[in-house]
Amino acid sequence: MNLTTRHMAAFRQRLNPLNTQVEWLVNEDTYDYHQEVANAGFGDMLHDKERNQKYFIVIKKTIASMRAEGQEVHVLDIGTGTGILSMMALYVGADTVTACEAFVPMANCAEKILKANNFGDRIKLIKKRSTDIRIGEDMERKANLLVTEILDTELIGEGALAIYNHAHANLLTEHALCIPCKATCYAQVVQSSLAAQWNSLKLLVNLDGDVLLKPSPDVLNCSGEPSVHDIQMSQLPLDQIKPLTHPIEIFEFDFKCKEPIDVQRSRNILVKAFIPGSTDLVFFWWDIKMDFKEEVLLSCAPFWAHPNFKELKVKSSPRLPLTNVVPWRDHWMQAIYYIPRPLKLTPSDNEFILNCNHDEFSWWFNVFPNESNNFEKQTKRHACLCRFHITYSRSRIGQINQAQRNKRYLRFLENNIHKDSNVLVLGHGCILGLACCSLGASKVWCHEPHKFSRHFMESLVQYNKLNSVYLVESLKDLETEILNSLTHIIAEPYFLTSILPWDNFYFGYLLTKISEKLNRLVKISPFAASIYAVPVEFLDLHKIKAPVRECEGFDLSLFHKMVEVSMSISQAKVEAHPLWEYPCRALADPVELLKVEFRRFDIDKHHQGEITVKEPGLCNGVCLWVDWFLDKSGDSKSVVSSGPIASIIPGEFIKWDMFTRQGVHFIDNNQAIKANILEWSVIFKSKSAHLNFNFNIRHK
Ligand SMILES: C[S@@+](CC[C@H](N)C(=O)[O-])C[C@H]1O[C@@H](n2cnc3c(N)ncnc32)[C@H](O)[C@@H]1O
Repeated sequence: MNLTTRHMAAFRQRLNPLNTQVEWLVNEDTYDYHQEVANAGFGDMLHDKERNQKYFIVIKKTIASMRAEGQEVHVLDIGTGTGILSMMALYVGADTVTACEAFVPMANCAEKILKANNFGDRIKLIKKRSTDIRIGEDMERKANLLVTEILDTELIGEGALAIYNHAHANLLTEHALCIPCKATCYAQVVQSSLAAQWNSLKLLVNLDGDVLLKPSPDVLNCSGEPSVHDIQMSQLPLDQIKPLTHPIEIFEFDFKCKEPIDVQRSRNILVKAFIPGSTDLVFFWWDIKMDFKEEVLLSCAPFWAHPNFKELKVKSSPRLPLTNVVPWRDHWMQAIYYIPRPLKLTPSDNEFILNCNHDEFSWWFNVFPNESNNFEKQTKRHACLCRFHITYSRSRIGQINQAQRNKRYLRFLENNIHKDSNVLVLGHGCILGLACCSLGASKVWCHEPHKFSRHFMESLVQYNKLNSVYLVESLKDLETEILNSLTHIIAEPYFLTSILPWDNFYFGYLLTKISEKLNRLVKISPFAASIYAVPVEFLDLHKIKAPVRECEGFDLSLFHKMVEVSMSISQAKVEAHPLWEYPCRALADPVELLKVEFRRFDIDKHHQGEITVKEPGLCNGVCLWVDWFLDKSGDSKSVVSSGPIASIIPGEFIKWDMFTRQGVHFIDNNQAIKANILEWSVIFKSKSAHLNFNFNIRHK
């Protein structure tokens, strides 16, 4: 290394999920925290046409009406980001504009953008949190118009309540107007065993329906984690959700109100279900009235509850699924909140109390029977005490419960495990491994290094009286004699450190640590795994990475440049996304990129090839996933896929597994044009635990 030229280089730590070792990466001298800016999700926001247009229209209308009343207009833009709302305000005639931004790399970016748009000396940029701003020091005078966008899927999750309260108390005049002006939050009570599967533990039954494992009472009775489950709700299959109520207005926030907005609020609403069922969960979303006359509305409702659904449907292309006719955005989604103990409503007993609560940042919900003494009840924010809900992600919890998938593993186990089996289970929270004991295995060792995961597994072992299961913290605790006695090593595999599907190849890495001590005849399952890829046309997801050159007539190309640099130096060219939430059409048949056999995991691989994109459409992404082969048979029933749940048909939408995240490589927008060849290569280095992909579009 040339120390004279590298003296500014900074180091950054990264956990390599393929071997769980911490690696040091060097940030180049030019690294200007582009990465953080690129990952902050601004791109998606700036592609949200409805949001941008409505802000612009309302800023223009409001400033015009203030001017018509003879007022000077002094604007404060809290959280300016790229500076877009400040530029709008100045452009349509504000007298002064003060922008503040707490995230310094973003503020530096805003500074350059304002200059490039010739607003540099006319918009005062303060690189601070609004709550640290002092009138007389940072700002000359109080503002009489607040233009801000500090909302998230929960509305209040970015701390909007405290920011508004502080601004009204310190930074705004007595009669200041606010854009947006008001927000309304909605809740709809729903029964859905599919969604409830993301929050509970079901019985594990064998192929004959006999119970193999029962959840322990501490898991069953646990209130679970109240934290938001944000989701692209319109994509939930309608036949898997049964609304019990209409959407209910639960809270309204008047942003221009001078009175402080309470930080802890609770409301009990008497609700009548229009159909009997189980009050499993609450669907939540909000809308905002942008202007003080409340004429311009922006709604985050899912398509079935969207106020403009009918008009939007008429205007949209017939090729667009109904679920996608309402404006798409990823920065504001909808939310699911799970009810700790659902009520079973009957036709005669269908009234209940919906208990809605929020604090400064988040929401939680409960239901009570309709009894007079329940009306005043408040509930404290509940918490997971059993460690199941707190340890595993929602998608992992759903996966643990997934009957279809479990059936394939159990079929393998039923055919292979017998009374002389000594089984080692590698993975975190692998309850299928515990099932080996219920299926009669002689001894089962589960490698559970994670404390909380071990606690959860221990509770299952004790409750189900699995006397021949041993939970081991480290593979080093397994004596050579034990390793040599193993007849089976099994895994799903699933590890808490995994983000991308192939991060679970860590299974292979663990095997290499003990392989020398294993019996030659030990059976390893999964036997192998393959990574597949298919080029696709996303309807919307690509927008989170698409360049933003211009927004409502303002030049944001400097922001685009930053993101571009960041994408080109990015280590992670493949990102994890739950693809069932993001419709995409297949543009070709899927192709296998790489196959690893876990018994021979130490072999390095390098493959390359090309896929002809034969369907019409814009190839803006490549989707990747792993298929796990439980045995050598090649039988489709012994394959567990983390990808599509039905065969991929080029030209049609892909149906994705709902309980894992798949890999996505976004095609650079300059390359994403029609009729292409997708060149790919993959390099797998076992020793250094590196798996790298490369994709390139070649034009015919
Ligand atoms: C959702 S973005 C909006 C960016 C921009 N206003 C727009 O509409 O595109 C919110 C921005 O507010 C910043 N922010 C949040 N709270 C803030 C505060 N109290 N003071 C200053 N900046 C804040 C965040 O760092 C983020 O850049």
